[in-house]
This record gives sequence, structure tokens and C-alpha cells, in this order.
Amino acid sequence: PVEERIDLLMKQMTLEEKVGQMNQYNGFWDVTGPAPKGGNAELKYEHLRKGWVGSMLTVRGVKEVRAVQKIAVEETRLGIPLIIGFDVIHGYKTLSPIPLAEAASWDMQAIKKSASIAADEASASGINWTFGPNVDISNDARWGRVMEGAGEDPYLGSKVAIARVTGFQGDTKEDLSKVNTIAACAKHFAAYGFAESGRDYNTVDMSISKLYNTVLPPFKAATEAGVRTFMNSFNILNGVPATGNSFLQRDILKGKWKFDGFIVSDWASVREMIAHGYAKDGADATQKAVTAGSDMDMESYLYVTELAKLVKDGKVKEALVDDAVRRILRVKFELGLFDDPYKYCDEKREKATIGNKANNDGVLDMAKKSIVLLKNDNNLLPLKKSGQKIALIGALANDKNSPLGSWRIASDDNTAVSVLEGMQQYKDNQLTFEKGADLTVGKTTFLDEVVFNTTDKSGFEAAKKAAKNADVVVMVLGEHGFQSGEGRSRTNLDLPGLQQELLEEIYKVNSNIVLVLNNGRPLSIPWAAEHIPTIVEAWHLGTQTGNAVAQVLYGDYNPSGKLPISFPRNIGQVPIYYNNYSTGRPVNSDKNVFWSHYTDVEKTPLYPFGFGLSYTTFEYKNLKVNKAVFIKNEPVNVMVEVTNTGNYDGKEVAQLYIHDDFASIARPVKELKGFELLDLKKGETKIVTFTLSQKELGFYDNEGNYLVEAGTFKIMVGGSSDKGLESGFELK
Ligand code: IFM
Repeated sequence: PVEERIDLLMKQMTLEEKVGQMNQYNGFWDVTGPAPKGGNAELKYEHLRKGWVGSMLTVRGVKEVRAVQKIAVEETRLGIPLIIGFDVIHGYKTLSPIPLAEAASWDMQAIKKSASIAADEASASGINWTFGPNVDISNDARWGRVMEGAGEDPYLGSKVAIARVTGFQGDTKEDLSKVNTIAACAKHFAAYGFAESGRDYNTVDMSISKLYNTVLPPFKAATEAGVRTFMNSFNILNGVPATGNSFLQRDILKGKWKFDGFIVSDWASVREMIAHGYAKDGADATQKAVTAGSDMDMESYLYVTELAKLVKDGKVKEALVDDAVRRILRVKFELGLFDDPYKYCDEKREKATIGNKANNDGVLDMAKKSIVLLKNDNNLLPLKKSGQKIALIGALANDKNSPLGSWRIASDDNTAVSVLEGMQQYKDNQLTFEKGADLTVGKTTFLDEVVFNTTDKSGFEAAKKAAKNADVVVMVLGEHGFQSGEGRSRTNLDLPGLQQELLEEIYKVNSNIVLVLNNGRPLSIPWAAEHIPTIVEAWHLGTQTGNAVAQVLYGDYNPSGKLPISFPRNIGQVPIYYNNYSTGRPVNSDKNVFWSHYTDVEKTPLYPFGFGLSYTTFEYKNLKVNKAVFIKNEPVNVMVEVTNTGNYDGKEVAQLYIHDDFASIARPVKELKGFELLDLKKGETKIVTFTLSQKELGFYDNEGNYLVEAGTFKIMVGGSSDKGLESGFELK
């Protein structure tokens, strides 16, 4: 019946009303009061009333959403409700860890739950569509938006994409009409994470095989999980902007993958095709974007001004407009907006839901699971719960804003539990705090460049004194929450500001240091990795940051995260990723310089993908493949025994990697093709069985064909991408 309802409605729509459905405006003004001058507010009101707006973004809160919805429903000729979009990236008001951190949990249930908490809060606030998940694969830590994705690996990225899509939307199409689910959006289609030199919005040039094997899998997985919308990306891909890219949007997404939801442009990306040198003017950009399959124009103001004329002049077929409108209306129907346009506008629910205890408990659980223990020499962790003098050092330890991370436009500033507050819960130790040095100077907001303190060391002496008197020093260092994210590309991944100097000064007076990193991307910390006994990767963990960190430091939660992205030794190694290709000279066989390496640093990462320790230890034994030779289509079963050999109960992510020894297109040295999160009591052994099917054993060629080729395969199973038990099999 949905399609019939769409038919009926579309028959009544004028061309201008159809185009209106394809137009999306940002709602930055106070819709509950008079429109302020400037910012196009009057124009937006006027277009809303005419039925020339199909969607609004960044309108938030029941009161505001109801106000715009009322105009669309009660003042326009056909009363078509708006779909209300918002960047619900890692939580709405109650923030979960940044997406990259969540991926470090390798816990798909937890990630799904986290997305469902975000959907619950956002929908209670009037929103019915999130611009997430970001499923961009990236192996470039210079790119600030690595914080928004799931890291460098397409297999892990695909699983995370499914978890997030189903967390936002529910498991079935029917779930989408529930009041506490929202439509998801797989973005940014495509290859945005491969911007040259890690500079945001920059050019992307890549082979079709790499596109299919590395970039597209999470998008495909999201489509198969039923994601209802896509967002295209700012970048050019092989000379054609993603927004005007028919190959991506029409051939692959709507063609091969049969996606029947709609595609929204990124912010003004239709207009940006002019700056790319791909469109002559606004009309040309509109023609190219619509022809290429971009269904909705976010804030370019171009479809609304150009498209109807282009149709009338015969430059854009009306059938393309009809197809786009049908897709947009379909999602609106599926959300149930036509049955009740105000279904997300319930003040009582808004009040009861946002920031409630269950949501805070949920994000705390996610935050603990996201932490990765990188080093724990001398078992400095877990901390003893009493009788210790602890010096907590670093401005970030007392920061309630930075841990909220980037992309969190609905949350209130300074609402995170700081690490200091978290540690103060453990009252039987003596805790002193010294910042050492401010991390930043001036404003730290979503829109401004973050400026680091590089001169004021006035707090150094007090910090050194505190460290000297302590049994253990906990130092919280890293990046400010607004130092990663969109527009935050960097050419230096070292600890910013005075932090490296502070770390080395403290080390001189007390080397018993637990370094807690707060960051939105891999950092290069070779000095710390060599000298500091204990390092904890705590990212930007959202609202419950301090509680999560403290519970891990004190051993109330045994860390179980594994890196979803490689950490370089220095910036010169970037891009660095585990699933690289072999060169013709991978090893130093002739003992001279003519092999693939650097002369000044190891070619391996400092911390590899999949790496992460625990307070306990795990042993892998008895790796077996059920046969030596398989015919195609036969499942390959791989078994391994994992034992908790240490002194704590703990969790381990057992990882399976394959290597296709030779193929018609060379395959990476390793590819993750399975993982299992194991809960193991002290002394307990579990047998894990992985199954490799055609889906895991093949690859895409340069025409986008999926091939499974005969030949030999190596497999490796372990707790990290850099080492494990090895075996192999043959495919005939
Ligand atoms: O969703 C975002 C996108 O990721 C970057 N540009 C703006 C969009 C809407 O806020």
C-alpha cells in the first residue's frame, strides 16, 4: 500500500512541489519566535509555506520540530510532513564514545545498543533521521574524520555498519515506524576517507578494485541491513565529484545494489561541483547532480531554484525527479510520518528520555568496552584501591568538555564526567591533581581552530612536586575533543602543545606513570611507548568518560578493546595499515639497502590493528582447518582453542586473517575475515569455530566483478593482526 499511497500523492503534486521534496534547509533560526534578519530565514519560511521544502536539518527539540512540522502539515497545499535530519553521530544529548572508539570494542551488541540509545533520545527530541553511521574506511590519521568511522578495515567496518544501522532503525522495515527508531544514513558515499594527504575535502584517486574491496563493503553491508538513506561526499573520485557521480549513485547503489531509499547531498556539495571545476554554474550543477542520482539537495539552494526550469526546458527528465521524490516519500511513509506527523513531538517523552539513567548506564558500558590497554609493564594497572598516593596530571584530566569529542551538536558543553571526577569516586587513595599546563588557549568550539598552549609552563613545577610525592602518576594527555573531526586535518600526530615536554619532565621525577590517552585519531607516541610503563588508549569517551576510565584503571572493568586502526611510529609512515600489499622486495634478503623499508624507522606500526592487552593473558592453541583441500562453495571451518591463562576474568577478541597467496589481482598480505568476542573466566578454555564462505574468500576485480579463484590460502588466528597461529588450505 505504501507505493499506492505514493502514487496517489504524486498525482496531485505540481512540479514545484515535487522539487520541494528534494530540497533540504538547515534550521538554524529560532523557529518559535520571529525570524531574525539575515541567514535566509525569511526565504526559508516562505519556501516552507509554499511546500518547497521536503526536509530540515539541525532543528532540534520537540518545540522547534513541532513548529516547522506545523507549517509543512497545516500551511502547505498538500500537507506533506518534513523529514527532520540531524547529526546524531555518537549519541544525542547523552554521548557515547566517538565512533572510532566504539569500534575498538569489537562488540557489535554494545555498538548496536549505543546507536539505539542515540535513536531513543533523538526521536524523543523530535528527530526522525540521523546522518549516520559514517562508514568511511580510512587509514590516514591525518584526516580528522577518522574519529567518525570504524577505522581502517572493511570487514570490521561492515560489521560495525550493520550494528549501527540496526541500532538506529531496528532490525526490520516495520521497526522503522516505531517511535523510538530513526532512519539511518550511510555516509559519505564514497571514498571520502582517502582524501589525498589526509587533507579534508581533498581529491581522491583510486583503482576500481580498491574502491570495491576497501571502500564499498561497509556501504554494501549497510544497504543489505536496510539503511534507508545515503549521503554522498564532498570529494572528487577519479575526476568526478561524488555528488555528480552516476557510476557510484546510479550504477552501483541504485543499480547493482537495488537501494530503494534516497540519497542526500552533503552540505552544499551540489554547488561545490562548480568549485571542483566540474559544473559551469548552478543550473549545470543541478542537472549533473540530479542526473547522477543525488535525490535531495542539502543547503545548496539549487534544486529549489533551478530544477523545475531544467525539467521544463527538457534538460532533466521529469522521470528522474519522480524517482527521487518517490524515494523520499517512501521513507517518510515508512517512518509513519503521514499517519502522524507529530509522532516524535511528545514533550513528556522528551523529558523522561533525554539523559535518563538507563541511557547513561548504556553509554558508560560502551565507554568501558572502548578502552584499549596498549602497554602494562610491571602490572602498574590495575591500581590498588587503597593506601596509594596518586598524582593525576594533565589539563585533560580535569576537562568536562573535551571528552565529549567532536560532532556532538545537541549536547551541552561541559557535561562529561571528567577523569578527575571519576577517580575521586575511589576514596581510599590519596589523590592530588595538577594540570601541569593548559592544553589550549582561546576558544575551543566546533567551528574554531584549536590553538595550543606552547609557552605557559607555569604549572610544571607543581606537577613535578605532586609526581615526586606519589606512588603512581596518572597522566591524561592527548588531543582536545575539537582537535579531531571535520576540518581538523593535521600534519603532526605527536602529543600537541607542551604535553610531550611535560611527560618527559614528570618521568624524570617519577617513572611510575600510567599514561591515559584522550584522542580522536591515532597519535604517534614513540617516546612514550619506549619509556612509559603503562599506556591506556581512552579516546574521547563521551558523557561517562571519567567513570569509565576510573573503573578500568582500578580494575573494576578489565580492558578488552582492540585497535580498529594502526598507530604509526611517526607521521611519515602514514598512511599505514595492516592490510597492505606485499612489494616485490618485502624482506632484506640480500642484506643491502635495496628492499622496501625506511632507513630511519621500522616499517611496522607502533601499535598494529587488532592489538590490545588485558589485565589477564590469553593463549591460543590447536589451530585446525577441517580439511586441507576444498572445492569452491564448500565452507572452510577453522577451529582454535583460547585459554585465559592469567589471574583475572577477561574478554578477548579472537581474530581470523587470511592471505590469498596469488590471484589475478594481488591480494593484501592479510585480511580480517572473522572475529569472535570471548568472555573467559580465569583458567577457562573455549573453542572458537570460524567459517569462511565464498563471501570471505573472494575479491573484486577492476570491473567490479566478484571472483573466487582457486589456489592456496594462508590463515592466521590470534589476538592481534601482527601475530598468531598459522595454517592454510587449498581451494580447487
Ligand atoms: O552530516 C554532515 C556531514 O557529515 C558533513 N557536512 C554536513 C552534514 C550535515 O550536518
